[in-house]
Amino acid sequence: MLTAQGLLEISNPTAKSLIDFFKACENFRPPKSSIKRLKGALAFFEPSSRTQLSFESAGLELGIQWISLHPDSMSLQKGESLRDTAELVNQYEVDFWVVRSSLMGLPHWIHKWTEKPVFNAGDGQNQHPTQALGDALTLYRQCGNKKLKVCFFGDVYRSRVARSVLATFRALGHSVRLVDDESAETHSFAEAFQCRLISRKSLRSQDVVMCLRTQKERGSNSHQRPLEANDLGPKTAVMHPGPVIWNQDMNLDIRTLGSRYLVVDQVKNAYLVRLRLLSDFQKARGRAS
Ligand code: CP
Repeated sequence: MLTAQGLLEISNPTAKSLIDFFKACENFRPPKSSIKRLKGALAFFEPSSRTQLSFESAGLELGIQWISLHPDSMSLQKGESLRDTAELVNQYEVDFWVVRSSLMGLPHWIHKWTEKPVFNAGDGQNQHPTQALGDALTLYRQCGNKKLKVCFFGDVYRSRVARSVLATFRALGHSVRLVDDESAETHSFAEAFQCRLISRKSLRSQDVVMCLRTQKERGSNSHQRPLEANDLGPKTAVMHPGPVIWNQDMNLDIRTLGSRYLVVDQVKNAYLVRLRLLSDFQKARGRAS
């Protein structure tokens, strides 16, 4: 069946050659290495640089094999459902999933459909847990156990990062406030999550300002002036989960803050978090390489 050219066509097969091949398929077991490596499905249904590449890179570091989904070139484009897609990928001996989607709850659904562990890599405006752990680690590495005054700035309402970070920062004793941009959305977030609203002028007294991206893909129409170095006190640090939209989220002068500009640290620390989580997961599965 297989030729030096690969398999380009089925032409004139005999019944025997087909049945021999079917039997060979049934009896086939892949050659075993001493330790079976984990296979993860990287399912990014929404664009990503940091999260996708850091999960991929951390996994490669640990000897994890990846099967990557490319939604733009998959049968999803022909109308196949997400459930059918998840179930078909699951047939390829996938041990776990990493899922990013604009649909809130999709990681939970994929867990339900496939009965496999799922790492949520960001779902709509719901959650982004590994980003939250990386951001909390960033503050811990900067300030240890010090309790900090942190203020969110920007499109808080549509931010899954804000929702996830809030829980981790509060658990560590940091207090979290919001800049009052006088929008109904920010007020409703403040009420739902019991955050104090402060004026833009009060940013000067904060230890950290976490700027959040203007999320156009989720309908943001924010006209807030970008964060500027002038808004900050002399010791205020700046975080942003990325991607930064310069001159919309923050002015370029924020880049001149030196060690108070923590955005690159956030990328590095989120990578460390994913590396550690995947390593723990691998160990729990008895598959350490
Ligand atoms: N912070 C974050 O999730 O970035 P990406 O969309 O590039 O993964």
